[in-house]
Amino acid sequence: MSKKIVIAVDGFSSCGKSSFAKLIAQRLGYLYIDSGAMYRAVTLGFIQNGLIENGVVKGDGLLDNIKRLEVGFSLNPKTKKHETTLNGVVVEEQIRTISVANLVSVIAAVSEVRERMVELQRKLGIGKGIVMDGRDIGTVVFPSAELKIFMTAEPKIRAERRLKEMIEKGQEVNLAEILANIEERDYLDQTRAISPLRKADDAIILDNSLMTIDEQMVWVEKLIEERIK
Ligand code: CDP
Repeated sequence: MSKKIVIAVDGFSSCGKSSFAKLIAQRLGYLYIDSGAMYRAVTLGFIQNGLIENGVVKGDGLLDNIKRLEVGFSLNPKTKKHETTLNGVVVEEQIRTISVANLVSVIAAVSEVRERMVELQRKLGIGKGIVMDGRDIGTVVFPSAELKIFMTAEPKIRAERRLKEMIEKGQEVNLAEILANIEERDYLDQTRAISPLRKADDAIILDNSLMTIDEQMVWVEKLIEERIK
């Protein structure tokens, strides 16, 4: 019998963490959690509640607001996919827009926001058998995860992948705008005071600049096998 483990997938923005983590979870029959979607949902909530002015979060009412924002996931019976919810409303599309992407790293640096999200993420991982992707999963959320992967890819390749994804969804964006957003978020994520993006000492690096998803799966399968046996 194989044992259930926790798999943490961290890394830079838009390097395909979600697709990779989702596929691993599917193959193992594990729960997949996109922690970035949670920070994106909080950001959307703050925008909707008028808490952001010129890219800066207003201090007033912040704590109250965080408490009132319920972030979760629900299964879409038609597509069989999990969708992010904010106060019970599916917000999967709205959280993937460039306007949310442009603010999310500022919101994700707020200590109260991180505390709430980490608490929620740990609850989701109680039963093990989980793959979670993000920035601080292997370092802060699940420091004793059995398998930690740190993903990276060249910025231009990441921007091209994200552009394709957003254009397919009908969004009006261009490569320069996306590249600027990726670089800005990478910088903010790595330099923030609380839980900055960094490779955990025991994480294994995966640079997928020139790898297909199938090649990545072959790469990870051996690592998983060693840990679940
Ligand atoms: O999909 P992409 O890689 O562009 O980003 P994401 O995973 O959706 O995360 C959006 C943003 O949330 C990141 O740029 C971080 O600022 C923040 N985040 C975080 O601080 N900690 C996490 N565990 C996950 C995301």
